[in-house]
Order: sequence, then structure tokens, then C-alpha cells
Amino acid sequence: MTFNEYKPSGRIKNKHMLTLMDYSTEEIWEILKCAIDLKKKQYAKEPHPYLIRKTLAMIFAKSSTRTRISFEQGIRQLGGVPIFLSTADIQLGRGEPIRDTVRVLERMNIDGIMIRTFKQSDLEELARWGHIPVINGLTDDFHPCQVLADLLTVYEKFGRLEGLKLTFFGEGFNMANSLMLGCAKVGMNVCICAPKGFQPDPKIVEAARRGAFAEAQVTVTDDIDEAIAGADAVYTDVFFSMGQEKDPVKEAAMMPMQVNAAMMKKANPDAIFLHCLPAHRGEEVTDEVMEGPQSWIFQEAENRLHAQKAVMYLLMKD
Ligand code: CP
Ligand code: NVA
Repeated sequence: MTFNEYKPSGRIKNKHMLTLMDYSTEEIWEILKCAIDLKKKQYAKEPHPYLIRKTLAMIFAKSSTRTRISFEQGIRQLGGVPIFLSTADIQLGRGEPIRDTVRVLERMNIDGIMIRTFKQSDLEELARWGHIPVINGLTDDFHPCQVLADLLTVYEKFGRLEGLKLTFFGEGFNMANSLMLGCAKVGMNVCICAPKGFQPDPKIVEAARRGAFAEAQVTVTDDIDEAIAGADAVYTDVFFSMGQEKDPVKEAAMMPMQVNAAMMKKANPDAIFLHCLPAHRGEEVTDEVMEGPQSWIFQEAENRLHAQKAVMYLLMKD
């Protein structure tokens, strides 16, 4: 079967969204089909109040524009209510244990938790101590919600997913990890191009290979020409992620991987440029590529809304 042939079946029940490792190909297809449907409804101004009066707690230990707005706007459009909780303000930030926080949230009738934080293990602890769905809004290890929006964007451009190639230039951190897992699961070939010393954890590369659909290839290389050849989507992320110190050695190692016009010319002629954003023009990408005709970054950012609505609906519905 292909993504185009898949019919939604309501297969997702009682799940968290901690990492795409926990999701099968069919479950990812289910989310993407739901996102496409919700996007159509929104464009047709057709109401879709599927989570009426459901409350989403949104815990942020790091800054956010897209993630915060997509979840906050998304839950409202579904008829529910967001509660924004910055760890700068709540007791969690002063050391109240996660296991106490989640049990308090449940007693206050919270129906789901989206959290952006540093350690993946903190999410796992939330999930372990609570009975409500926990959604990963970014950790140092993974950013699954971003990748669902990215897959939707790639699908909108090419009308299929299987057999396409996505190349990511940047270090083996949250974006590279989730892209490997998500692309491989939907049958896309994925290549992570990073200097030695900044490549992804081999355990996650292995997990992506194990989960690959339709013989999708997962490649890790520092060979830029090999990486860009045949790419349908070219993706990059900042040299220094939130919580990381600036480091001139790393910057020098990353600079040759900058996505610029010369780099885009080496990809397939109809390749698109993607970036999770925020971007640092002049570092990982040039202004010319960001603003150029191959850039799909704002469609990609918009798709955060549709993808996140699908995740909330499928995880939080009764
Ligand atoms: N891409 C992304 O997660 O953006 P924010 O950090 O603005 O949420
Ligand atoms: N890798 C980046 C992604 C931001 C959306 C970070 O963690 O800061």
C-alpha cells in the first residue's frame, strides 16, 4: 500500500507522542490524512469542534513561536482551551517534581499535556505518572510534531512520499533524529549530512533503519556532494540549538554545509527548501535561499497548525 491508497481507520488510541519511534507507518499516515482533512475544513470555513471543552496544558521550558501558536490556535479551533505554562512561572521551574506536577494537572481536569523541554526522560516521566496524553513539543532528542508538518509539506509539493529523498544539513540533534525516523517510516530516503563529531547517535540511525518502509534508505555522511545529489527536499537547522553554547570550532565545521544558491543548484531541479525555523540567515542558510522560489518555509510553518490539530484530535478525542 502507499500513502495515497491508505484509508483512515481510527487506529490511534490511547497514545502519547513522545517520539516517532513509537509510531508505525500506518499511524503516521493516519495523522497526515487527518491533517489534510482538517486543513481542507479550515480553508472551507467548515467548523470542526472535535475537542469541545477539552483542555491542553502547554508547558514550555524553552522559547517558541510556531509550536506555541500552532497548539494554542489549534486547540481553540477544535473547540478546546489552551493553558500556557512557562517553567519560568510555575513551580516545576523551581524544582517541583514532574510526577507531582502531572498528578495535579490531572486532578484539575486537564485532558492533555504538550511539553517543550530539554531532556527526553522528563517527557517519559510525565507519561509514566499520568494517564493523559503527553505530546513532545521539542526536546534535545526529538521534534516529532515539526516532522509531521514537514512530511505534510513534502506531500503537498510532490503528491506522494515514497521514494523521495530528503537531505538534512546540520548536526545530529532533535531535527536530524526526528527527520530520520519520520522520513524512513513513510518510505522516504533520508540523508543526514554532518561533519564527523556532529553526526547522529548510531542507536537512532539504527532505529530509523529498522522502522523504514518501502526499502527507504537512511544515510549518514559528511560528503556534501553525495548528500545533495538527487535531493527532492533540502533541509537545514541552526548551528546552535536552544540551550547550546556558541562554539567557533563547531561553526567552522558547519559552515561548508550552508544551504546557499550553489548548493540548491546541485539538488533536483524541482527540489524544495525546508527549515523548521527560526533561521539564522548567513549561517546555516542564505537569505537568497530563504526568500527564493524553492523555499517552502512558510507553507511548512503553516502546516504546523494543521499537523498539530491532527495530533491533538487523534490523541485527545474520547
Ligand atoms: N520550529 C519550531 O518548533 O519553532 P518554534 O521554536 O518557534 O516553536
Ligand atoms: N534545533 C533547534 C530547533 C528549533 C525548532 C533547537 O532545538 O533550538
